[in-house]
Amino acid sequence: MEKIPFIIGNWKMYKTIPEAQEYIEKFSKLIHGVKVRVGLSIPFTALSAAKGSVKNGEIQIGAQDVSRHDEGAYTGEICSLQLKDAGASFVLIGHSERRQYHHESHSVLKEKLHQALKRGIQPVVCIGETLEEREKGLTEVVLKSQIDEVLRGLPKSEAPQLALAYEPIWAIGAGLAATVEIAQSTHAFCRNCLKALFDDHVARSISILYGGSVKAENIAALMKEKDIDGALVGRASLDANEFAKIIHLSGNKKL
Ligand code: PGA
Repeated sequence: MEKIPFIIGNWKMYKTIPEAQEYIEKFSKLIHGVKVRVGLSIPFTALSAAKGSVKNGEIQIGAQDVSRHDEGAYTGEICSLQLKDAGASFVLIGHSERRQYHHESHSVLKEKLHQALKRGIQPVVCIGETLEEREKGLTEVVLKSQIDEVLRGLPKSEAPQLALAYEPIWAIGAGLAATVEIAQSTHAFCRNCLKALFDDHVARSISILYGGSVKAENIAALMKEKDIDGALVGRASLDANEFAKIIHLSGNKKL
């Protein structure tokens, strides 16, 4: 079976509308013809303009968050219908920066997941442990609870629409990624958690992306691993040349 790598650039709170348009114009040419599913997770303000700049369908536009509410008097929130409207085809759910700075609980993330699925927007559920949790030997307990609390109860038929992103918090923005061995063994653990919740077939169909200091120097080695299906790239996705290099190096995977 061949699984197409899924590589997402997470721009976080960077780039204006003209900067997003300029990036996409340049980046599209650089990645033309690659056999990789490429996503850009960009600020709300630039979603619609970015979608308009995508000419050949080789880039998918996604958001970084979604409201847990359907619609209503929720000042400052953006709902899944509005994301769909702006051209988002996927959305990050529970990025560690949202969990940390906005205190998003598992129950809130569960609601966000349902909002995304309801509108046919692919949820990319982010999980990851802190350095302290890893050092205390709690990594598996923490990840299992993050997976179970958010995904439990999801019908098996809907689960293949998800992607999971494992991002050890200690590797995000750190410049130093998890070793390939740590990333692979943690991904295998996550896959087993998915298997326990759903079944083997569903677990295999869900792409598990690695995130945390991914760059051109380490992407190829990460992507060779059996359970690493893609990457969520922060800082290195801000530069079109650098991100295009990562896309080319992520290559094709045989499973
Ligand atoms: P980084 O960020 O690649 O800059 O470590 C990854 C992320 O936060 O998604």
